Amino acid sequence: MSLSKFRAVGLCSLALAGSLLAAPFAAAQFPGMPQPKHYAWSDATLSPDVRADLVIKEMTLDEKLSLLHGQGMPFFTTGPTESNGGAGYSNAIQRLGIPAIQMADSAYGVTRGAAAGRYSTALPSNLGAASSWDPQAAYEYGALIGRELRNQGYSMSLGGGVNMTREPRNGRTFEYQGEDPLLAGTLAGNFAKGIQSEHIIGDLKHYAVNDQESGRNAVNANIDKRSMRESDLLAFEIALGISDAAGVMCSYNRVNGDFACENSYLLKDVLKGAFHFKGFVLSDWGGTHSSAKASHAGLDQEQPDKYFYGAELKKDVESGEVSVDEINDHVHRILRSIFATGLFDHPVVKDVPDVEHGYAVALKLAEKSIVLLKNEHNVLPLEAGVKQVALIGGHADLGVVSGGGSAQVDAPGGSPVPPPPPTGGLDSFIRPEWMPSSPLRALTAKLPSAKVSYTSGDDLAASAAAAKGADVAIVFVYQVESEGMDLKTLALSPEQNKLVETVAAANKKTVVVVESGSPATMPWVDQVAGVVEAWYPGIKGAEALANILTGAVNPTGKLAVTFPKSDADLPHPTLITPPATSEINWAAAGGDISNIMSLMAHGMPAFQTTYDEKLEVGYKWYDAEKKAVLFPFGFGLSYTSYAYSGLSVSKGDGLTVTFTVKNTGKRAGTEIAEVYAALPASAGEPPKRLIGWTRVDLAAGEQKQVTVAVESKRLQVFDEAADGWKLVPGDYTVLVGGSSQALPLNAKVTLQ
Ligand code: BGC
Repeated sequence: MSLSKFRAVGLCSLALAGSLLAAPFAAAQFPGMPQPKHYAWSDATLSPDVRADLVIKEMTLDEKLSLLHGQGMPFFTTGPTESNGGAGYSNAIQRLGIPAIQMADSAYGVTRGAAAGRYSTALPSNLGAASSWDPQAAYEYGALIGRELRNQGYSMSLGGGVNMTREPRNGRTFEYQGEDPLLAGTLAGNFAKGIQSEHIIGDLKHYAVNDQESGRNAVNANIDKRSMRESDLLAFEIALGISDAAGVMCSYNRVNGDFACENSYLLKDVLKGAFHFKGFVLSDWGGTHSSAKASHAGLDQEQPDKYFYGAELKKDVESGEVSVDEINDHVHRILRSIFATGLFDHPVVKDVPDVEHGYAVALKLAEKSIVLLKNEHNVLPLEAGVKQVALIGGHADLGVVSGGGSAQVDAPGGSPVPPPPPTGGLDSFIRPEWMPSSPLRALTAKLPSAKVSYTSGDDLAASAAAAKGADVAIVFVYQVESEGMDLKTLALSPEQNKLVETVAAANKKTVVVVESGSPATMPWVDQVAGVVEAWYPGIKGAEALANILTGAVNPTGKLAVTFPKSDADLPHPTLITPPATSEINWAAAGGDISNIMSLMAHGMPAFQTTYDEKLEVGYKWYDAEKKAVLFPFGFGLSYTSYAYSGLSVSKGDGLTVTFTVKNTGKRAGTEIAEVYAALPASAGEPPKRLIGWTRVDLAAGEQKQVTVAVESKRLQVFDEAADGWKLVPGDYTVLVGGSSQALPLNAKVTLQ
């Protein structure tokens, strides 16, 4: 079936058949039907491990093997299926009361709503939400998605992207949580914890070093163990520590020679060994490449089909190549996840999503995500008496753009800006959708006595004329991003850059609103008065923007990624692209998704990427290279100002960092106060690393003393020879302030 049919397939009847088949669902969904049987493992006082083992004792080999693979994607599976219409599932074992695991992509909301006629809340993109630096907000983000998954009959999230921004042109940067492992891991962990609070299986992905899309199915990422453990893998470690996420999706790429889904170092030594991961590893879709090798290395479940974990794995068991104990371990991990998350005890019950609640969460999160980057002469917030506001470009009359690919949340009512007609190739997957949250409508509502106009931006002369006649001109620019592509450059299109320059020349009070999934370069930054980074702000994005632009809400967001001045400043100035032989040839595959999955699974010739920037990811690179940036990591303005004083650092198990933050302006605000450490030179580390932060709510003129507890591990380095973490004795400098490049306080501490 071609990709263009993704949205057209009617799955309702299949989903209904599925729910009738799955006994635990049936009882909950159709009152009056018999309750599920009581089994020995129904006893919720037993541990998830004991319950899983009780089930395993009753299972046949075929039943066990049936849990270790998907059953095809619903889009190209014919005949009756238990699928709920998500990207994949593993079957139920009705005789034993084990429910199917219904998986749905859900990075910033539940996907594939259009195909199934369901509503889901589109939250701000993950990188946007990471700009809140707010673990509680990340939890609420996850809990909302968990609730809507449950409402829609799903039982596992395929969200939780936590790949490091090594390559900001990565087309999935919007799905990830930025460039710092502590920030990203903390937020992804709280996201997964929120998902699991709804008794939905959480997932972290894509494990590991899947840091760009180009050639992702073939690339071999070369990277040393220390760099991995202290950056990309550390984010997963922190997220797992917080959430106990029951699923980890291994990635498409190779790492140091082996595919991630058959990489014994990644899966067995690190994830299941060092991180004590007790859940199950599922392959990215078409990312399984062997049976015995993958099984030995620690892959528990192949998705979405059974190219290797069906007949082949059975043959391996029969020949003794794969032991029954190894199979039992895979099965145990899947079953224990069903018990540990509470899915067994709280079967999924479909319900109508609480749309109003979704809106409220989406609005609050978008307000926390938006980052004010420039505000010369206090051009913002818009003055109460403003008479004429000209909005220009970016379809700001209709909506805000969103992130595409498997993460795409469908716009309720359809995209107000029609996507280009699908051709059956990759472009139908990448299609950009706008959320019907109109900046023109939202600002008009907030400014009832002003005239708010809209000009498309297609005609430069008309745009300049609109800007000239207005008190303030607001230009909307955007960058479309999706799985399956990388940006060629962080630069916006030449047309959009030209539009900004034209408007800025016509009106000194020009503000630019950027809707992007990645950092954008801004050659015009000195010509404009204000810049607001809105990311992909979601279904309430325009309302949140209007609240920020008018000052109803004081901005608090801070960047979770560095904005460089140009591509030339990146660790890899030119995007690493694969040779044609290592790319999926969509045309040759006839646009048929089953051919494409099979191509992926059977492997394509490797090509090499070497992450020779090693530990120097994001701000660590710019610090080490002493390169000036456009906007640094951790940066974001507010309509008030803050002062820092009184730093003291005490040693214990880790550090206790105490300091005072004062609101020195005239309005209430929330400051994100950041704590970094410079390690002793002998540690061989980048100049500094984030070791903690706190959010401080302050009324105008108020000051508060705050304390940030820093775990000892945050100060350690990974010792490759000893295969463990160690503290390098010596002098450490603790630095405190409002961004990675504004750290007014520092204190020395000697650690042994
Ligand atoms: C993506 C995953 C996604 C899966 C299922 C893959 O192409 O890389 O992130 O969860 O498809 O849709």
